[in-house]
Amino acid sequence: MKNVKIRTVLMSAIAVVALGATLMMPSCKKKDTTTMTLYDSLGGTTMVADPSNSGQMIEKGRLGIRSVVDSAIFIIAADASINKYFTVLLAEVTAGNLSGFSALSKNLTDFFCVATGAKNFTYSGKNMVDAHNPATNSRISGKVDAGDFSQFINDVGASAGKNQLPSYLTARLVTVMNSVMGQVVQKIVSH
Ligand code: HEM
Repeated sequence: MKNVKIRTVLMSAIAVVALGATLMMPSCKKKDTTTMTLYDSLGGTTMVADPSNSGQMIEKGRLGIRSVVDSAIFIIAADASINKYFTVLLAEVTAGNLSGFSALSKNLTDFFCVATGAKNFTYSGKNMVDAHNPATNSRISGKVDAGDFSQFINDVGASAGKNQLPSYLTARLVTVMNSVMGQVVQKIVSH
């Protein structure tokens, strides 16, 4: 009987210690990546050398986003199923004029930086409805339908993979894109 009582007391003590350890765990961990913004998960405001602009520094989070954006533009430009929207950009690039590419890269990078938690940048391009309507943006060659929207997401996903983004971070990027689907998709295709 006495033994049983001792064992019960011991078990309760172990349970209390175990519970305490579990509750203390988050404060011992270095960083909780599940609650960090995507921008901070990519390195946030830590300054690093900008590999594309010698002598310049760039926030690591922005570099991560810009890398995905720039290779996504190349993937999309080569994707025959959706590059029909980008005829203005493609004609410029073919002629050796990169000004439109630079402007698009900057605006897309700003947009995704702000949407993923950056604090030191602002987006100054067109709103998502105007940017994707040929009547208000002469650089888009038609209204986007839902199928092309999902192909665009596939291409950005491929770019994220190319840049070694872990899949849980790519999923966050996809969430950002899906959040503007209603503004980007302006052509309703009836079957
Ligand atoms: C998925 C979410 C999307 C986001 C967050 C997004 C964001 C943007 C942004 C920030 C711009 C630049 C606007 C400006 O310069 O003022 C832009 C332009 C553009 N977007 Fe999107 N976009 C999305 C989806 C799409 C899709 C699905 C297509 C077509 C399949 C598309 C085609 C274009 C084109 C053709 C332009 C103009 C490119 C240029 O300036 O040369 N976008 N978009």
